[in-house]
Amino acid sequence: MAISSEPTGDFGLFDAVVNLCKRRGFVFPSAEIYGGIRSTYDYGPLGALMLRNIREAWWRAMVQERDDVVPLDAAILTNPKVWEASGHLATFTDPLVDCRNCKERWRADQIDATCPNCGSTDLTEARPFNLMFKTFVGPVEEDSSVAYLRPETAQGMFVNYVNVETTTRRKPPFGIAQIGRAFRNEITPGNFVFRTREFELMELEFFVPPADSPRWQQYWCQERLSWYVRYGIAGEKLRLRSHDPEELSHYSLATTDVEFLFPWGWGELEGIANRTDFDLRAHQKHSGTSLEHFDQATGERYLPHVVEPAAGATRAMMAFLLAAYEEDEIGGERRVVLRLHPLIAPYQVAVLPLSKKDALSGLAREVLHRVQRHFMCEYDETQSIGRRYRRQDEIGTPYCVTVDFESLEDRQVTVRERDTTAQTRLPIDDLESHLLERLGI
Ligand code: GAP
Repeated sequence: MAISSEPTGDFGLFDAVVNLCKRRGFVFPSAEIYGGIRSTYDYGPLGALMLRNIREAWWRAMVQERDDVVPLDAAILTNPKVWEASGHLATFTDPLVDCRNCKERWRADQIDATCPNCGSTDLTEARPFNLMFKTFVGPVEEDSSVAYLRPETAQGMFVNYVNVETTTRRKPPFGIAQIGRAFRNEITPGNFVFRTREFELMELEFFVPPADSPRWQQYWCQERLSWYVRYGIAGEKLRLRSHDPEELSHYSLATTDVEFLFPWGWGELEGIANRTDFDLRAHQKHSGTSLEHFDQATGERYLPHVVEPAAGATRAMMAFLLAAYEEDEIGGERRVVLRLHPLIAPYQVAVLPLSKKDALSGLAREVLHRVQRHFMCEYDETQSIGRRYRRQDEIGTPYCVTVDFESLEDRQVTVRERDTTAQTRLPIDDLESHLLERLGI
């Protein structure tokens, strides 16, 4: 029986997930031995595996299973003229206020004229604060060597539009997809990995004939909503929400967010924006290079419009963890279980010899080597089998394979399922095909 899978409003679920992340090695405060650095995190062994699975699940749906999307991996540091043209230098800002009493800084649009830290209403006037991290390229720190860490991966796809279109012989509608780190000097990072200064973006720029952009935006909203359901988040914890005009980014004509019901309420998981030809037009103007598509069928030249589903991988990880966390009871014993989708879980299989004795470890390692070819596996031979099952449940491993003394005689093993705890005995020779089928691979 599930006893705590719903948002509690008192942050019980949030605290439980944050605690699990630290205790089991999903997420560590960055450089913890030096006291960390505010709202910056390192992804531990389990977090690194899970993030990789999230990227792969996105890649599978957005690139591999389509014939109209090609990938790109653009540089993080680029010519600063890109950010001038894109409008980020002038308008990628948040309104910042200082509390004159306690000196804390806040985003003016996130507080109610009162300092959340000390309650003072003695706040400065709001002023725009640019979110881009500035650095210098080369040994001399002067104006001509200023560069920026990218705040979105999208611009790499816009400035390469013609390169990609020509080399892949594409024409609209087609998309360019990219996954990579992005950096924003957020004024108020927080809620664990929900808002951090360094995070991972998974972005698609989908180039379409101008008149078709509203239709494609609707299409991508449905596609992206169903991606989260496909990978394990219940539909009732997700919704689509259209931006009010005053919320829109400087480049967007219309944006709809996929939102998740976080413990503190609905929050954005990704935005699906109609960027029109804003970016291509700006880069065409600033670079002096034509970025128009030439339609051979009609003899027409035009700047494609862009529909952009932009998702945060690190934020998605948090939503997948919150949606999967449950506490239930098995045989009168309380257990924590992460009901993660098998392809999102850090490990798909754990191989567990019933005892640490040498007699079993030879066969157990043979089993491990067989399944390792297909899945991420953990090998664990310490403590009682019950405790080892609990440990795997807590990190979401969908299948445990137990090798016991009978296995030495009959070359059979026991497969235990995380969600039902049901156990099936089967020949080692059938194990790989059994697991591949169960995991839907
Ligand atoms: N290229 C468009 C773009 O970057 P965005 O709405 O600013 O759009 C896309 O960001 C997604 O990136 C968000 O929906 C969110 O999931 C994630 N994201 C944005 N800022 C973030 C931050 N500071 N920390 C973690 N994730 C963030």
